Amino acid sequence: MSGISRRQLLAAGLGAAGTVATGVGLGGYVLPLLAREDLIPGEAPTRALEPEVWEITDQRLNFVALGDNGSGGRQAMAVAGRMADTYANRPYGHVVLLGDISYYGNFADRYDDVFVRPMRPLLDAGVTFDLAIGNHDEALRYSDEGFEEIEAEVRLLDTPGRYYVKTYGPADIFFLDSSVPGLFGPRSSDQLAWLDDTLASSTSQWRIVAMHHPPYSSGRHGSTPRAEEMLVPILERHHVDLVLAGHDHNYERTHPLDGVTYVVSGGGCKTTKVGHSSFTAVAERILQFLYVEIDDDHLVARCIRPSGEIADRFELRAREGR
Ligand SMILES: [Fe+2]
Repeated sequence: MSGISRRQLLAAGLGAAGTVATGVGLGGYVLPLLAREDLIPGEAPTRALEPEVWEITDQRLNFVALGDNGSGGRQAMAVAGRMADTYANRPYGHVVLLGDISYYGNFADRYDDVFVRPMRPLLDAGVTFDLAIGNHDEALRYSDEGFEEIEAEVRLLDTPGRYYVKTYGPADIFFLDSSVPGLFGPRSSDQLAWLDDTLASSTSQWRIVAMHHPPYSSGRHGSTPRAEEMLVPILERHHVDLVLAGHDHNYERTHPLDGVTYVVSGGGCKTTKVGHSSFTAVAERILQFLYVEIDDDHLVARCIRPSGEIADRFELRAREGR
């Protein structure tokens, strides 16, 4: 079996996929699975981190944004390992999860493999994780099973609701559930009205929106239909600084569009092709996460690869005119 045992497959967190594959033998099923880079088993990071040594004040905040990390395989471990290394150098207290945190199986079943094992150093250090719900199971999209799985994610991660706002230091971070059917369509949910109202009452210096489906993307899925029409005017009206999304498995940053910078940070465990659009400032097909530091009205963000290489660095000034 190409030197990889069933035990190793399961230990790598392949869960249901690994079980099914080994159950039917090699014939035409295991090998295609093993050929997928994001399914190759990997070592979980074990680095011990000093707990709760980050600093958050009214002026200062740092955090990580990670998208589409849910394989439990080697590449997911490499990204998670670099997140632990980054904490060791510049401790941070929060991770913004941009959705799709469990591929190839139900999150409740795969919780240890796709979340606890890779994030163990950060969990032990007391880092908290806030989830922007993703579609994460295209086969289950909008089905009852899909919603059951989302409920398991919300429960296991102690997420306060399907959409919510968290205030950390000088920033309000608005978490949306972009998997809701019709969010950007004619049956637009209450969520956008909530966002409009909550942004209107925000008094924080920074306003950041986290969601799974990107309003602007040059990746495989591309820009989310009707987001430009339904969501973007709300973001612009309330001077949102930064929108963080995933879904496309790459890194992309837009030029500021009417003052709003849009980032796709979806390289948490696998990559897909990305092109360039008129709105693109930087686009790369890479494994990565985004590390963000805010100091008063100044934000610096770095797109970090598993090697530690900085693939992109950008700065923002808090928007004026609020
Ligand atoms: Fe997705």
